[in-house]
Amino acid sequence: MAVKWVRERGPAVSKKEWWIVKTFTVERMRCEHVVNPLGVEVPRPRLSWELCGLRRGLRQAAYRLRAASTGARLAAGEGDIWDSGRVESAQSVLVAYAGSRLRSRQRVCWQVEVWDEIGEVATSAPAFWETGLLQARDWSAQWITYTQGGGTVPVDPAPFFRKEFNLDRPVESARAYVCGLGYHEFHLNGKRVGDAVLHPAFTKYDAKALYTVYDVTALLQSGVNAAGLWLGTGWYNCHSAGAWDFAQAPWRDVVKALAQIEVTFKDGSRQTIASDSAWRWSASPIRFDGLREGETYDAREEQPGWATAGFEALEWKPAIIARPPGGALKAMIMPPCRVIQTTAPVARHEALPGVWVFDLGQNMTGWARLTVTGAAGTRIVLRYAEKLSENGEIDDSNIQSFAKGRPFQTDTYILRGDRAEIYEPRFAYHGFQYVQVTGLPEPPTDHTLQGRVVHTDLETTGRFACSSELLTWIQHAVRWATLGNYHGMPTDCPHREKNGWTGDASLSSDQMLYNFDAASSYTKWLDDFTDCQRPNGAFPGIVPTGGWGYNWGAGPAWDAAYFTLSWNLYLYRGDRGILERHYEGMQRYLSFLAGMASGGIVNFGLGDWCPPEGVEDGHACPAALTNTAYYFSFARQTARVAELLGKRVEAARYAKLAARIRRAFLKTFATPLTGMFTGENQTSMATALFHNLVEPPQTDKVLAALLERVTACHEHLECGILGAKYVMRALTDSGHAELAYRIAMQEDYPSWGLWRKLGATTLWETWDGKASQNHHMFSDVGAWLYYALAGIQPDPAQPGFKHAVIRPNLVGELEWVEAGTHTPYGPLSVEWRREAGGAIFEIVVPANTTATVSLPARNAPTVTEGGRLAAGAVGIRISDAHEAGRAVFEVSAGTYEFICEL
Ligand code: BGC
Repeated sequence: MAVKWVRERGPAVSKKEWWIVKTFTVERMRCEHVVNPLGVEVPRPRLSWELCGLRRGLRQAAYRLRAASTGARLAAGEGDIWDSGRVESAQSVLVAYAGSRLRSRQRVCWQVEVWDEIGEVATSAPAFWETGLLQARDWSAQWITYTQGGGTVPVDPAPFFRKEFNLDRPVESARAYVCGLGYHEFHLNGKRVGDAVLHPAFTKYDAKALYTVYDVTALLQSGVNAAGLWLGTGWYNCHSAGAWDFAQAPWRDVVKALAQIEVTFKDGSRQTIASDSAWRWSASPIRFDGLREGETYDAREEQPGWATAGFEALEWKPAIIARPPGGALKAMIMPPCRVIQTTAPVARHEALPGVWVFDLGQNMTGWARLTVTGAAGTRIVLRYAEKLSENGEIDDSNIQSFAKGRPFQTDTYILRGDRAEIYEPRFAYHGFQYVQVTGLPEPPTDHTLQGRVVHTDLETTGRFACSSELLTWIQHAVRWATLGNYHGMPTDCPHREKNGWTGDASLSSDQMLYNFDAASSYTKWLDDFTDCQRPNGAFPGIVPTGGWGYNWGAGPAWDAAYFTLSWNLYLYRGDRGILERHYEGMQRYLSFLAGMASGGIVNFGLGDWCPPEGVEDGHACPAALTNTAYYFSFARQTARVAELLGKRVEAARYAKLAARIRRAFLKTFATPLTGMFTGENQTSMATALFHNLVEPPQTDKVLAALLERVTACHEHLECGILGAKYVMRALTDSGHAELAYRIAMQEDYPSWGLWRKLGATTLWETWDGKASQNHHMFSDVGAWLYYALAGIQPDPAQPGFKHAVIRPNLVGELEWVEAGTHTPYGPLSVEWRREAGGAIFEIVVPANTTATVSLPARNAPTVTEGGRLAAGAVGIRISDAHEAGRAVFEVSAGTYEFICEL
């Protein structure tokens, strides 16, 4: 329903319309960023909600939160767990629960009543959260496995475990608390529980392992039940030799699991079924599985009904009690990996006799699903790659550098031979566009193979499209590279390494937060940083790590992820708690850097990684420059966080440190006369600008030097992953969005456009495309689309988009842009299009927020909104901020249509 412009009151609005604009609803109830989570463990969970309504200026004046022990009590208006009473406050994001102390397994039903600024009231639908097992003593289950392990850790067929149990009373509710390492599938009465795959997310297992709370009420039956567990090696028994020493991880061991099924009967009594030596195990048809190698499945070894009651498990052996992995058990409330999409090949061909190659048309992450009929014992081999060689076979030479002669991205299926058989792997995933299949009994049909897209199920929160096909393609490639590289953590690539490379994720985090609901996943990954931080403050280059990565691969530009992600969760999601949680870690890291610095300069760690070929010999930006700039920005951020947390003295200390580093930086790298910085690479100057290391009037000189280098490079980047972000940002923020746009639109080397021309569907690792073709570290251009073209910018003074800056840039031949991002307050969007002599801007500012809207306009006073002068329209006031060539307004929540003459 589009009510475009409405008067606040009065005759211009019909009664019905007034009712529409008067009322509002309360939606999207979240607890710790998640809708109805099971397994919440923090003592004071934070609650968020969104106001939804069409009236301009709609905002929250007060709220009342009620939390009750049952839905019925809540419905009766009770708040036996907590009643906040009416609180005069506009806060609707991350309001901390302040009721009585929560117990383990407690279900809390909650609801919020909201009063708006005109006294209307709305009540949300009921929502809930449920606590996890909060104490170690809540666990009666024992870790079980199938062999003692120790010494060299064996890689055996993936084991099944099973246990039957009797339920003799009607069940009221039931939960299963399950952790299975590396990966597990949990089955009850013949059904897989939930739809998570490659589960749970990877952690540093000797610090922490993640369990899942499953609501299994509907899967139980009266009488005999059967529980089943199926375990794969995953990261826990990672036996791949390469990338990076995980086979030597101190926590590595045979697969193991912990399961506790807790049943509450209608009569109030309880029964617990816990894993112990009474469970039994058997080898499963998965004869081999390896994270990077792939999976071998022998369908002749299937045991139909293995997880149903009455199955004859005569050959099965008793489970062995295993050593626990060593860390704490924590509930996983971030979204799991799922099969997100099933796709059909766009082409197939026979490269050599019997060698069939399927083209999925998109570089993706996951696996293939095979449908096939043939004789028992027939072996079908699937191999996955991003590229084809000249003879039409797959070419994985660009990604298998760590395979060291072992199978790589290879699944093998051995037929059972009875009827149409469908196979897809379970405990391995691949990065690929092409699947090469050998051993098919018959030439393939359209039904033989499908692509299964698998990654962490991050909800999409952003959309971007525009009249440029290239820029719209960038959004597509950014999305696919980002999603395909999220498997419980942001990874570098989905094939060669699959590692949580920190630097890559640091650079991606802005676009990530425009495009996806990454809050709970980032929260988990930041905890992984804490687990991996050495007592002296150092981080490894990959998180989680098996011990590798402290002495190579890390350094300020990579470790920056810890700072960037926590700050960005504050900036984009309004999460102050995350800063509180990691403040001590930031301080510890800073003292580590202080120990590494000499004279304020840090000279270790990676620099502007993967620049175009040839740059190293000529205009290279030194790593000491980019790393010292990060040192400065960490000190500044820590000072800000200290201030936010009310730690005045510490704030002053870090501000002083920042000032010292800045002086050292300028002294060491700047040539004040020319504005150039050491290396005279675009990255050198852009670093100084991006990190605010220079101040006017010097800024102009540095900008001029940067422009000089951009011109010398014919408006192309000469940067690696750091500069690619800084240059685009520095140009945009200094009024050169037009030039940044021209860089983004290039189609020859080096450029994003060249990748597209060469057939890319994701972002690549290097400008020449010779390495991995699915990396996300060059993805900040995706954030730039929102930031610069749509102009959607968060405001650190009122984070979480409580107040937004909307500052679109009409650049080049761009005819229109349509973009939106779902903020913690609701959807914010900017759509603009050129019209004869001007442009139309349709802007939606979420309820309970405000925005500063800065629009390009030849003559600010003539800007109209909703058909009348913007200056007099409801919800709009002319801003005190003046910008040349722009009209600037302060607007309240609502939908606006501005028309500007250009
Ligand atoms: C990874 C990168 C990573 C880099 C750091 C590479 O092997 O794929 O994305 O950031 O190493 O050294």
